Amino acid sequence: MNALAATSRNFRQAARLLGLDSKLEKSLLIPFREIKVECTIPKDDGTLASFIGFRVQHDNARGPMKGGIRYHPEVDPDEVNALAQLMTWKTAVAAIPYGGAKGGIGCAPGELSTSELERLTRVFTQKIHDLIGTHTDVPAPDMGTNSQTMAWILDEYSKFHGHSPAVVTGKPLDLGGSLGRDAATGRGVMYATEALLAEHGKSISGSTFVIQGFGNVGSWAAQIIHENGGKVIALGDVTGSIRNKNGLDIPALMKHRNEGGALKDFHDAEVMDSSELLVHECDVLIPCALGGVLNRENAPDVKAKFIIEAANHPTDPEADEILAKKGVTILPDIYANSGGVIVSYFEWVQNIQGFMWDEEKVNMELHKYMNNSFQHIKAMCKSQDCNLRMGAFTLGVNRVARATLLRGWEA
Ligand SMILES: NC(=O)c1ccc[n+]([C@@H]2O[C@H](COP(=O)([O-])OP(=O)(O)OC[C@H]3O[C@@H](n4cnc5c(N)ncnc54)[C@H](O)[C@@H]3O)[C@@H](O)[C@H]2O)c1
Repeated sequence: MNALAATSRNFRQAARLLGLDSKLEKSLLIPFREIKVECTIPKDDGTLASFIGFRVQHDNARGPMKGGIRYHPEVDPDEVNALAQLMTWKTAVAAIPYGGAKGGIGCAPGELSTSELERLTRVFTQKIHDLIGTHTDVPAPDMGTNSQTMAWILDEYSKFHGHSPAVVTGKPLDLGGSLGRDAATGRGVMYATEALLAEHGKSISGSTFVIQGFGNVGSWAAQIIHENGGKVIALGDVTGSIRNKNGLDIPALMKHRNEGGALKDFHDAEVMDSSELLVHECDVLIPCALGGVLNRENAPDVKAKFIIEAANHPTDPEADEILAKKGVTILPDIYANSGGVIVSYFEWVQNIQGFMWDEEKVNMELHKYMNNSFQHIKAMCKSQDCNLRMGAFTLGVNRVARATLLRGWEA
């Protein structure tokens, strides 16, 4: 089952639990707008190259649409559509005043030079500038994009619309970015994990962790978990996987990685087969890379007691069922990785107000939002007698449904 089918299935289950009428259910599922553009740029060698860019704007009942832009060779319209829909429920679960969107360009960013990436980003922005905006659709970084990408979008957009810092979030600090935004998704993952473990009488410092992905989300989650006394015993990225049963020295690993070292060359760890990473012995497994990595092939062998979905859609529905039968508790993506969009919201608020918060305030507010959402999800689980994924979906879908009805949009 692909990401779109799985997300729609979760939505339908939530709609049934909530008893939504079929007209409202249908109108909540259909995207507001799907944009596909061809972006042609001159490469550094003078030849022309074309890339397909997408933006799916799913729903704006609760506010401007919000979602990342992903650069990856496997970006496809169905996946972007599913991720846009997930953003609608995610912003609603987080109780921030946004709808959902998602975009991407089918490209391998590692194979493009910085100037090629800049040209590609500027051409993409030229093609969609009329359709995004501070109060319509606010992009952010995702896999394969970063604060520099957002700076190029801001600059290109501002040529058409004047200085508009709140048109994108995840910007560099010098262009109106928020303190704490870089670490926000990883920090939110830690707050979410802490809340879940506490429910089970456990703590970060008493637990072992395996993390897949060592990019923005994975590396910050690893650092903050390590700072809080958690033991990260195995970790992998696209280049390979490593382990140390006594716990990896994450600050040393970060230094090694920032100096250009590959994971497998880190001195204080054993290299392991990447296919063993997700089924490695641990208390908490945190997928922070691609979707669909937990499936019916590997789910029966998962040994973790808790899975924190830091990546979007890492568990396919078949794996979900297998893992539930094994008694594994899954904290769903629409809550677990919402730290990034929550601090994106803080960034947008700061840009609109023209006032900058200190990092302590950002982290304190993030903690509050993550804890509140967890309590609201738990309350939904109780009232609907469902698992955490359905608790989060029913919470999000219910909030969007209420806003839709209040606006009189259901017809
Ligand atoms: N960045 C954010 O704020 C944010 C917010 C919410 C959700 N997410 C989700 O988290 C995930 C990671 O995002 P990111 O921003 O950290 O991306 P990133 O590009 O910074 O990092 C991705 C990581 O995944 C690894 N990876 C890629 N393919 C892999 C494979 N086949 N096997 C193992 N590792 C692989 C890469 O090596 C890299 O370490 C994505 O699913 C994204 O949608 C990101």
